[in-house]
Amino acid sequence: MTGGDGAGIPGPWRRWRSRRGSWTPAEVADLSGQAAVVTGSSCGIGAAAAEHLARHRAHVIILCPSASQGRASADALRRRVAAARVNSVMCDLAQLNQVREAAEQITQLVGGRLDLLVNNAGVAALPYTRSPAGFEMHFAVNHLGHFALTGHLLPALLGASQPRVVNVSSVLHWLGRCRTDRPHRPRRYHRWRAYFDSKAANLLFTHGLTAWARSRELPLRAVAAHPGLANTALGSRALRTDGRRLEARLLEWGQAQWHSPPEAAWPLLRAATDPHVVGGEFFGPGGRWEWSGTPVRVRAAQRAHDARAVEQLWRLSQRLTGHPFPTSPRWPVQREAHS
Ligand SMILES: NC(=O)c1ccc[n+]([C@@H]2O[C@H](COP(=O)([O-])OP(=O)(O)OC[C@H]3O[C@@H](n4cnc5c(N)ncnc54)[C@H](OP(=O)(O)O)[C@@H]3O)[C@@H](O)[C@H]2O)c1
Repeated sequence: MTGGDGAGIPGPWRRWRSRRGSWTPAEVADLSGQAAVVTGSSCGIGAAAAEHLARHRAHVIILCPSASQGRASADALRRRVAAARVNSVMCDLAQLNQVREAAEQITQLVGGRLDLLVNNAGVAALPYTRSPAGFEMHFAVNHLGHFALTGHLLPALLGASQPRVVNVSSVLHWLGRCRTDRPHRPRRYHRWRAYFDSKAANLLFTHGLTAWARSRELPLRAVAAHPGLANTALGSRALRTDGRRLEARLLEWGQAQWHSPPEAAWPLLRAATDPHVVGGEFFGPGGRWEWSGTPVRVRAAQRAHDARAVEQLWRLSQRLTGHPFPTSPRWPVQREAHS
């Protein structure tokens, strides 16, 4: 194996020098008339990405698990960006019935035409927890909820001329291995490993969606991005709740050394708007160890795009979420019913 997939130091951490990139949000075109959903945009990197998109005049839909938090975040965004067009939709991604309802609500809000879906929401370092459907929570929220949301939003995405889906992974996916036999019910559990595995699943899903769209000659582009390390409460929130204060403080200290959420959102923004992006590409910060810096194309661990794992995860996710993606190669010309 190469690039840190086996024993040894993973690819990004063997390189000391930064890779120079010159991309900045100034390159983003006017997004007037385009509609974008950003999941997990009540705070952190998602809120920053939503703000960047609103500043470039996109109609932004904030998706988060609390209705009141969603409204407050939308109001805050309107205060920061004059004339921003913002809506909020409540959805707990761990609850598949809410995901379906949220997709219906979004489809109505955007008049059946969604240009961009940024699958950003995430949880990390949770103690072993199960979703209402009984699936391990990192896998349920970080991967399955987004898989289902994307599938249910397909008609709206295909209503746009050049739709794009951006899946937010992590440079820490290099430490993960999505065990595609039963990632939803792991035999052994470690809170960080479950997070790393879910971030590998985000990349496998990106490749699965790219293959699915290509095989049907659909214009949908699926792209992945990772923010580097940013100063948010991801991980430390769960550690604190669990009484692991020292670990939480160390994590917060580490995240504070690198960049702020607005800068961390740049790779997401580039993946979402750069006209030259090709389906299946992966963007991350170009600085040392991919922890900060301007966004560049980055490499993923081999096992995060292994063709067999891509297919296995796709089939499993379809089964666990009730087949939100049509299986017929004829679709969307002729939609078929699913059991
Ligand atoms: N921060 C980093 O250093 C870092 C590094 C690598 C990758 N990332 C990735 O970047 C993304 C954003 O992370 P962040 O650092 O901005 O985290 P954050 O500040 O904790 O934000 C996470 C967002 O996800 C939402 N969320 C959590 N559970 C949800 C659920 N069940 N349903 C719907 N939304 C849910 C949260 O909503 P509530 O707050 O309302 O619960 C919040 O808006 C994640 O995918 C993460 O894996 C972050």
